[in-house]
Amino acid sequence: MEPAQPYGLAAASEEKKTEATEDLNVPIRRIVSGIQPSGKLHLGNYMGALKNWIELQDRYECFFFIADWHALSTNYENTSLLRDNIRNMLFDWLALGLDPEKCTIFLQSDVLEHGELNLLLGMITPVSWLLRNPTYKDQQEQIESRNLATFGFLGYPVLMAADILLYRADHVPVGLDQLPHLELTREIARRLHHLYGPCVPEPLPLLTPTPKLLGLDGRKMSKSYDNCIYISDSAELVWEKIRTMMTDPQRVRRSDPGDPGKCPVFNLHGSFTGEEARKEIDLGCRTAGIGCVDCKKILLGNIEQLLAPARQKRKEMEGNMTRLRSILEAGAQSAQKEAGKTLHLIREAMKLPEKHLFG
Ligand code: TRP
Ligand code: SF4
Repeated sequence: MEPAQPYGLAAASEEKKTEATEDLNVPIRRIVSGIQPSGKLHLGNYMGALKNWIELQDRYECFFFIADWHALSTNYENTSLLRDNIRNMLFDWLALGLDPEKCTIFLQSDVLEHGELNLLLGMITPVSWLLRNPTYKDQQEQIESRNLATFGFLGYPVLMAADILLYRADHVPVGLDQLPHLELTREIARRLHHLYGPCVPEPLPLLTPTPKLLGLDGRKMSKSYDNCIYISDSAELVWEKIRTMMTDPQRVRRSDPGDPGKCPVFNLHGSFTGEEARKEIDLGCRTAGIGCVDCKKILLGNIEQLLAPARQKRKEMEGNMTRLRSILEAGAQSAQKEAGKTLHLIREAMKLPEKHLFG
């Protein structure tokens, strides 16, 4: 694979291109990224983040964490699933091949420094910047059932800025939806520098190309639509889901030609099937040369190439909880080491009391 470029999508827009040219010269050294523990991972989450992380861990110094405090920002009323979600998330990460020997894997709340930096950055972040954040309004409108008019939810991007700046990361792999948050992180970093002098790098986004995966019913694959194939699903369940999956509604009989462009099964082939085979299926579908069941069996085989080894690893881990605990402990320790250095730099810049206050 080619080395990932900052602003992967920059070429698509001329304006961005000029803005990003200089950015392209920043060598990637250290990466940080997190995911909220919202439940088990599905194929869409894998394509949108984990697949990329697993490639990045071989080439860069990476810090990957489970953002459990962030999960509170929208779920503070019901925390009954939080612990299970954290465990499942760690299982999924390791099962898919995120490797604690290659990268630092940790739990956000294990590193209290995230909280301290969140507080310090909160002191310098104008509320108007946070009110402007598009996800603040969008989510409030979308999630009407919960009261999101909280200090914590408004401050979500400040905590995220703390997560990132704490590791002096130069790049942050994120999907498009997180770009406004990252821009805020950069603005907060600049404000920090303006007020107290330069002390931490201004991080750049490393845009993950995110193919839009469709779910079993043809809508976007999403937990809230209950249309997902999960990384932890059994082989039988995966087949059951694919077997009953929606296809091109016009293709009623085996002899009817179909339109792959209108079929969510073909959408998944787009991410899990090689180009050659995909072309054959495309033609076969259009000419009624291939039946939907065969088409689905090919998809199952390809998805299983990812899921079968993950299942095996999960099984090994389930018998070894001590190992999981020690992965998080070791991760927290190395994260904390870097976080501590950064906080020292920031406290010095801000002229805050440190241990040497009295000589
Ligand atoms: N906001 C991110 C999401 O919802 C999760 C996240 C929290 C994050 N802190 C981060 C991502 C720091 C990258 C860097 O997906
Ligand atoms: Fe969809 Fe495949 Fe059937 Fe075509 S052959 S309609 S792509 S499932």
